[in-house]
Amino acid sequence: MTTRWGICSAGRISHDFAVALRTLPHEDHKVVAVAARKLDDAQQFAKKHSVPRAYGCYEEMARDPDVDVVYIGVINPYHISSSLLFINAKKNVLCEKPLAMNTKEVQEILACAKMNDVFFMEAVWTRFFPTSVEIRRLLDQGEIGEVKMVRSELGFVAKDTARVRLKELGGGGLLTLGVYCLQFSCMVYNGEKPESVHATGVLLDTDVDETVVVTLKFCQKRMAVFTCSVNLQLPNEAVIVGTKGTIRVPENMWCPTSLVVNGKETLYPLPEPCMPLNFRNGTGMRYEAEEVRQCLLKGLKESPVMSHADSLLLAEVEDEVRRQVGVVYSQDGQ
Ligand SMILES: NC(=O)c1ccc[n+]([C@@H]2O[C@H](COP(=O)([O-])OP(=O)(O)OC[C@H]3O[C@@H](n4cnc5c(N)ncnc54)[C@H](OP(=O)(O)O)[C@@H]3O)[C@@H](O)[C@H]2O)c1
Repeated sequence: MTTRWGICSAGRISHDFAVALRTLPHEDHKVVAVAARKLDDAQQFAKKHSVPRAYGCYEEMARDPDVDVVYIGVINPYHISSSLLFINAKKNVLCEKPLAMNTKEVQEILACAKMNDVFFMEAVWTRFFPTSVEIRRLLDQGEIGEVKMVRSELGFVAKDTARVRLKELGGGGLLTLGVYCLQFSCMVYNGEKPESVHATGVLLDTDVDETVVVTLKFCQKRMAVFTCSVNLQLPNEAVIVGTKGTIRVPENMWCPTSLVVNGKETLYPLPEPCMPLNFRNGTGMRYEAEEVRQCLLKGLKESPVMSHADSLLLAEVEDEVRRQVGVVYSQDGQ
């Protein structure tokens, strides 16, 4: 049975997602529709990606009976309205990260998905990369003993992009990049809630966070620390330190293609894209797409690898980090 995708927005990440789907078997994944705020944008996207139907508003695609699952690639403040629209139309949904602007919005989306009995997942693509599958296997097998420390960083000079810089577009380093470090720590610690969160950072002149350092403490003397920045090019690596060894993601920690386990490196190459991408290693979105397909085939309403509880935990920690650093969005209602 083919998984029939609808794509919500004709923006940059939607383009990469459509390219990533084309690295998977056509009989498994097909984009049947695209919707954008302007019909012309949707039509251009449809032409480029050979999508049969283009809609000039999201509501029209929500009514398309041939769409099984919608990929939402709109900017952060519109994740909630788009998610609720498609969920209420009984569509399964894969929504870009961060799932929403705060915990309150995430709770509303997840409750709506439960009520409508549809599949819903936050598009934390990193979790489905072969490197992440291997990390979970190694940790399960106790390959590096008991994990005591997770260190990660992600930073680029991205602050001139409007959606990164402007508060009203959901900007800030934590929601743009820090999410990846946070999700990595939470994956390693198996979705456990940290005992404490300590954060400090500096803001852009637009009052969103530029560079943030976060320390998480988990029970039994286990810790995680991460740095994110939209104004610094960081090495972008991650390290998991256990009592018997170390796992290192040597670069591109948010879309990794290599892993160093106790000093030995293994490469995990990605398929080549059929056309230029907007973001690095974009074809790696194929793994999250395939996860969605497998969940739908099994009749699951959430992925065991990136569950609703996982999304909630990310949102709760993000809120606490923002509270300490002093970033408030209009959605926070303060
Ligand atoms: N997985 C990853 O590695 C990754 C990478 C980049 C981005 N992302 C996530 O993907 C999402 C989109 O990022 P992007 O770089 O693709 O953004 P983008 O190209 O700037 O915008 C995406 C879409 O959002 C809608 N939009 C933009 N500005 C809007 C506004 N002022 N009001 C209402 N809608 C607006 C537009 O939809 P229409 O086409 O319908 O007009 C636009 O095409 C973000 O949530 C981001 O966090 C993820």
